[in-house]
Amino acid sequence: MTDIAASTVVEAMNRRYAAKTFDRTKKISDADRTEFLEALRLSPSSYGLQPWKFIARRRSTTSDHITRHMEMLQQERGVSAEALQSFKNMLIRSAAGRPPELQDAWNSNQTDVALGVAAMAAALLKIDACPVEGFDPVKFDDVLGLSGGDFTTTVAIAFGYRGEHDLFSSFPPLSRAADDVFVELGAGGL
Ligand SMILES: Cc1cc2nc3c(=O)[nH]c(=O)nc-3n(C[C@H](O)[C@H](O)[C@H](O)COP(=O)(O)O)c2cc1C
Repeated sequence: MTDIAASTVVEAMNRRYAAKTFDRTKKISDADRTEFLEALRLSPSSYGLQPWKFIARRRSTTSDHITRHMEMLQQERGVSAEALQSFKNMLIRSAAGRPPELQDAWNSNQTDVALGVAAMAAALLKIDACPVEGFDPVKFDDVLGLSGGDFTTTVAIAFGYRGEHDLFSSFPPLSRAADDVFVELGAGGL
């Protein structure tokens, strides 16, 4: 495993931008692809429920999905079914019991966390990326054959290597200054 110096993270984020064109001749190596997918697989999510497949996300959080998650907790961490029972009941009540529109929004939020992980992992691997939210999810689902199923699309992300003439690669970053975005609690607030 590669050790990453603290400065590497900031360097990677400074190098990163949303590439609008990609170099068709450059392919992501198998090793980088594997590392990237593993980082994505390890993305955090609320209660660790991972309501996604990396083509689309779940529309709702079903009791079945929660039950499978509990089975994984039992198998991978050796927790007994009895010990998990109240946690499982709470999840089924609170997560699966929410109104459908809140489940939809909640799962969509989890996908955005994975999107952040994907952007970070790509930057560290010097892979260029462009998140894409500007599409019609209904049409996108149709193209992917997801319409009417358990999954739907929230956001896409294109990967590759920046095109030589990508206009956006020459633009300076527009991140706001530290004193504009960080608020020290107890120091006067906003
Ligand atoms: C959630 C999200 C959705 C985005 N959707 C699009 C999109 O639909 N089309 C596009 O060209 N860029 C999209 N972007 C890229 C942003 O426009 C870009 O990240 C932003 O302008 C800041 O530029 P930078 O990432 O190059 O610093 C999206 C970025 C994020 C984080």
